[in-house]
Amino acid sequence: MSEKLRILIVDDDTTFLEDISFMLRDRYELGFAKSGAEALAAFRSVSWDAVLLDIDLGRGIDGFGVLDAMHAEEPDLPVFMVTRDTSSASAATAFKKGAVDYIDKRPDLADLERKITRALRERILERIARELSAGAGRAQGGMIGKSGPMAALRRAIAAAARSKGPVLVTGETGTGKELVAREFHRLAAPGKPFVAVNCAAFTKELIGSELFGHEKGAFTGAVERHIGKFELVADGVLFLDEITEIDSGSQAKLLRAVDQMEFERIGGGRSIRFRGRLIASTNRAIPEALKKGVLREDLYYRLNAFPVAVPPLRDRIEDIPLLARYFARRTARDLGMPTPELNAEMLRTLCGHDWPGNVRELERVVERLVGQGELIMPDELSEERPDASSTQDLLRLPYLEARDTVMREFKRRYVRPVLASCGGNVAEAAARMGLSEWGLRKILMEIEDSKQQRLRSADIPGDAKNGLS
Ligand SMILES: Nc1ncnc2c1ncn2[C@@H]1O[C@H](COP(=O)(O)OP(=O)(O)OP(=O)(O)O)[C@@H](O)[C@H]1O
Ligand SMILES: [Mg+2]
Repeated sequence: MSEKLRILIVDDDTTFLEDISFMLRDRYELGFAKSGAEALAAFRSVSWDAVLLDIDLGRGIDGFGVLDAMHAEEPDLPVFMVTRDTSSASAATAFKKGAVDYIDKRPDLADLERKITRALRERILERIARELSAGAGRAQGGMIGKSGPMAALRRAIAAAARSKGPVLVTGETGTGKELVAREFHRLAAPGKPFVAVNCAAFTKELIGSELFGHEKGAFTGAVERHIGKFELVADGVLFLDEITEIDSGSQAKLLRAVDQMEFERIGGGRSIRFRGRLIASTNRAIPEALKKGVLREDLYYRLNAFPVAVPPLRDRIEDIPLLARYFARRTARDLGMPTPELNAEMLRTLCGHDWPGNVRELERVVERLVGQGELIMPDELSEERPDASSTQDLLRLPYLEARDTVMREFKRRYVRPVLASCGGNVAEAAARMGLSEWGLRKILMEIEDSKQQRLRSADIPGDAKNGLS
């Protein structure tokens, strides 16, 4: 790889830019920006390996604001804060916000150069190693999004990670459940093993031994002892994807394993301790899965102590431009092409779509856009979902359902189109609606809340949908 690493340097002090350019230009390909706005424009048009960022950028958005915006779109990007303000408060803020280092602009340029070079080399090597180990050269673990529902999701993951128990992740197909499992791993058991099992890939006969292992001779064909994933994962995180594909008998064993933290190999009498964390996922609606009997109720209640529900993409339009730019940049980088610009028209189209396949569907559309230079939207068949019962029907509904129906309709006919026509930009949409940005965020949150309440009341099988509390 002879290509030079690319570094973006952001500072409103021209002398500093000249000095640093003189120091680094032989070894790196450099880009310069003199304000927060310029920095973000440069960040969005080219992919950078690292950024050196001054905290005080004169007028407009400051270095911390730039850092936040960059990390919302590219969480792994190494950003170094460079400053004359060496107070410990600003250093603390820099680290808290995820800067990788904090470098003061010493009068001694040679020393500064050594420090920057060493820091860059370390961070970039680390980043390359991480991307390679994540497979297919892709940075993993970065969960993009800064909408209210994404913030709530991050809080739910953090709460689940702090707890000791098992965790259930629900959400429609393509919403990012596997990414959530990896994020959970990063928080709950960093540096420990992460073992994933796609439960749909195993027959009823094989899943038990895949999970718990078997002894030699346990059944015909068991010619060797086999160590299962519960044992293999040790004190790491075991991710059971599509848990409803596991038969009821094995689900009962699973319950025992997480309840008593022990299990047995098939055909073996000895109990083995389970020291890991379990995180399971399903893209089925829980009430339906329980009714159909593909998820045992007892197991569900055990797993649901810390529920993590991943919101569908259509409920976080704000995140669509961020995700689209992120995918565009990543795809362009994979293909060794310049990152294409996503113009306002494209963003409006993307934000206006319903995304039944969620983030995965958006990812495919953007990959195709980068590869073929053309935005081709998937069929809009799903766009019109049945909704909005007549007033008569509405009047027959209990309060929560009626409120939810009206909110959904309000969102579908007013909030979503206006937000989409502003490319997902909440501040702009709020201005168009004659609201403050905060006011619109509050409404978005209310709509989300009413939906969560509906889901919660639907979660309780059988009885009790009467309480309004
Ligand atoms: N917040 C996000 N930021 C960046 N990439 C995301 C995000 N959410 C999802 N993705 C990407 O979208 C794709 C689908 O995500 P993932 O496989 O985690 O979905 P899933 O919910 O497990 O889907 P399924 O139910 O079909 O298994 C992946 O390529 C993932 O990296
Ligand atoms: Mg998945």
